[in-house]
Amino acid sequence: MIRITKMQKEHIAQIAELETLCFSLPWDAASFESELENPLSDWLVALEGETLAAYVGAQTAGGESDIMNVAVAPSFRRRGIARELMIAMECTLRERNTEAISLEVRESNLPAIRLYESLGFCRVGLRPNYYFKPKENALIYRKEMCHEDTGD
Ligand SMILES: CC(C)(COP(=O)(O)OP(=O)(O)OC[C@H]1O[C@@H](n2cnc3c(N)ncnc32)[C@H](O)[C@@H]1OP(=O)(O)O)[C@@H](O)C(=O)NCCC(=O)NCCS
Repeated sequence: MIRITKMQKEHIAQIAELETLCFSLPWDAASFESELENPLSDWLVALEGETLAAYVGAQTAGGESDIMNVAVAPSFRRRGIARELMIAMECTLRERNTEAISLEVRESNLPAIRLYESLGFCRVGLRPNYYFKPKENALIYRKEMCHEDTGD
């Protein structure tokens, strides 16, 4: 059974390992550790027992949030874990009263693009040659948050 919870120090070694597996310019363990102290950041992990299946991080400032990293371990993919984690992150960001969530994705990353579009993110721009190793354009996606009208 998959359990979603806030990132803690004990998860970081596995996160850094998965990060290396998934990205050509991975964040190191120290970067994740400093995120634990960052009041603007939210990090969630998906665990099966003690095993890290996935993680996602976001940063919020000025009423806008940015998804920084999302990754699912290869043996856990196509089980809806990224979707579940992204929805959990949306709930967390709603609690911060964020107005919109943005993210960048490599133009060739079809699995991620399909994931974001299925969650209601809309393509709003392109950053030429944004990525290195290999050089590639970034597509920018954004989702506006609807907040319930309390009638006040
Ligand atoms: C992208 C990634 C996070 C998806 O994780 P996942 O847990 O396998 O995704 P889910 O099972 O929640 O899939 C949700 C939807 O995403 C899309 N999707 C996911 N993997 C896909 C694939 N390989 N091909 C096409 N669509 C895919 C589908 O629309 C899927 O819905 P469906 O299963 O009902 O068709 C995962 O492949 C990954 O970690 N990739 C490497 C890291 C990465 O690229 N992160 C994104 C950086 S911007």
